[in-house]
Amino acid sequence: MGLDDNVNIEKPQPSKKRKHKEVAIFGNYKNYYGYRVGQDLEEDPRLTVLKNEWFESKDCLDIGCNNGTITVAIAKKFGCRSILGVDIDGDRVEEAYWNLRRIVKMSTPTIPPKTTKLEDAAGVNDAQHSVTELRSGETMESLRNFSSLQEKDLLNIVTFRKGNFVQNWRPPEDKSYHTIICLSVTKWIHLNWGDDGLILLFAKIWKLLQPGGIFILEPQPWDSYYKNRLVSEMAKTNYHNIKIFPEGFQEVLLDKIGFRKVENITSSLSGSKSGFNRPILAFWK
Ligand SMILES: C[S@@+](CC[C@H](N)C(=O)[O-])C[C@H]1O[C@@H](n2cnc3c(N)ncnc32)[C@H](O)[C@@H]1O
Repeated sequence: MGLDDNVNIEKPQPSKKRKHKEVAIFGNYKNYYGYRVGQDLEEDPRLTVLKNEWFESKDCLDIGCNNGTITVAIAKKFGCRSILGVDIDGDRVEEAYWNLRRIVKMSTPTIPPKTTKLEDAAGVNDAQHSVTELRSGETMESLRNFSSLQEKDLLNIVTFRKGNFVQNWRPPEDKSYHTIICLSVTKWIHLNWGDDGLILLFAKIWKLLQPGGIFILEPQPWDSYYKNRLVSEMAKTNYHNIKIFPEGFQEVLLDKIGFRKVENITSSLSGSKSGFNRPILAFWK
């Protein structure tokens, strides 16, 4: 399928009726995770259905990353080689960098300062002496190196960029990805850019994936579109003209875009208590 990023799709403007109220017309909510993930949940339940081998040592892309909570959590949990979060809202991208630095700081263990030269000279700080309070095989030095490595790594592994994925965003150095995730974003793209925008999204994802790569999709259900249909003038129009409904995304991705197989990876995750009762699908290129 050909992909033309320069297709002329207009930039949505907030609906006139609501122009004095701050409306998250792209689903670019501030504090999204404050109300989406229950405060009592330690981990976003969506992470529990993601498989290690899809991310470990892989180059990954997170479309619509918001404040980067999921992006950083995936990097930490699975050890991606790289993960790039893209979001249309520059404020969310700034928050994402802020969060990343905060998480790195928090996850760096506090290590006692280096011993003085005098102690070193007396041999107090050699490996045999310094292991007493550490796990076997760990020395203060190894722990120090490990923590600075981890800190450096997470900051190198995770990056964020502002960009409209369906219009003009291009990957750095024409990179391709092993795994692309797009969680709770399709409704916003669909409402703002219609069926054309949705097809552009899917086709661009397919193009950016390496052969054998995986696309993880969490589409919002059609009944949830109704309450957001007035967020922009474009959304109002698009809502009435949509012909591809979320139940049909799977067919489009397999039959028109060219993915070779799909799996519903959320059969084990259900219940509104978790805050995440939407199906998550994995597609293989
Ligand atoms: C509802 S949030 C979902 C955040 C995250 N993916 C998650 O599920 O936890 C949707 C995000 O998609 C972003 N978004 C919407 N349209 C976009 C586009 N065309 N390009 C990039 N990001 C977009 C919004 O700014 C928002 O942060």
